Amino acid sequence: MLVSPSLLAADFGNLEREMQWFNQSSADWLHLDVMDGVFVPNLSFGFPVLKAVARLCRRPLDVHLMVVRPDTYLDRVAELPGVKFFNFHYEAVEQPAQLIQRVREKGLGTAITLKPKTPVDVLLPLLPSLDLVLLMSVEPGFGGQAFIPGTLDKVSRLRELLRQTGGHAHIEVDGGVNGETGLQLSRAGADVLVAGSYVFGAKDPIAAVAQLKTL
Ligand code: DX5
Ligand code: ZN
Repeated sequence: MLVSPSLLAADFGNLEREMQWFNQSSADWLHLDVMDGVFVPNLSFGFPVLKAVARLCRRPLDVHLMVVRPDTYLDRVAELPGVKFFNFHYEAVEQPAQLIQRVREKGLGTAITLKPKTPVDVLLPLLPSLDLVLLMSVEPGFGGQAFIPGTLDKVSRLRELLRQTGGHAHIEVDGGVNGETGLQLSRAGADVLVAGSYVFGAKDPIAAVAQLKTL
């Protein structure tokens, strides 16, 4: 299992200290939630914070854009050091295939996210061109929400579609992930877990990451 802790649940008054334990942990990627207050009813952080974190972080960055017009940010995200995935919402764009192509041309991993109510079958024509699919297991916008159990069926269905199409995309899940839901997701076929409050809120965050990695 790959684990991508979400910075949204970090103590933003102590980012340097948070990145210190993070860099010592077994986390695979750092998940960065960018929100614009339009696509989702919340604001998080933008380029000044992304730049500071990119400088402090010793792991690839998994950038999850919860914004309208994600295409307008591609160039600036690609300039940040260490970005592995440019991950935008299927619901935010009219021509996802075109943006996926542009992401690939920038040399970044191609990734698309689905909200809980969007069925995975919409991805069928896009699957061969994707390096990662992120399934939201809460409505995007806020950390600390309860996991939506219907996500498990979406993970299994996506695993099946990838088998049928020969796609290689990671299946990542985001929202309400903890030891229990993480185990269920692993059994359903997910191979990347995003976790915010479960990791950053833990007494021992390094141990919380290590536990999720064993699932
Ligand atoms: C929600 C974000 C998530 C969030 C997860 O819109 O995409 O990444 O930080 O937080 P937890 O793990 O606390 O549900
Ligand atoms: Zn996220």
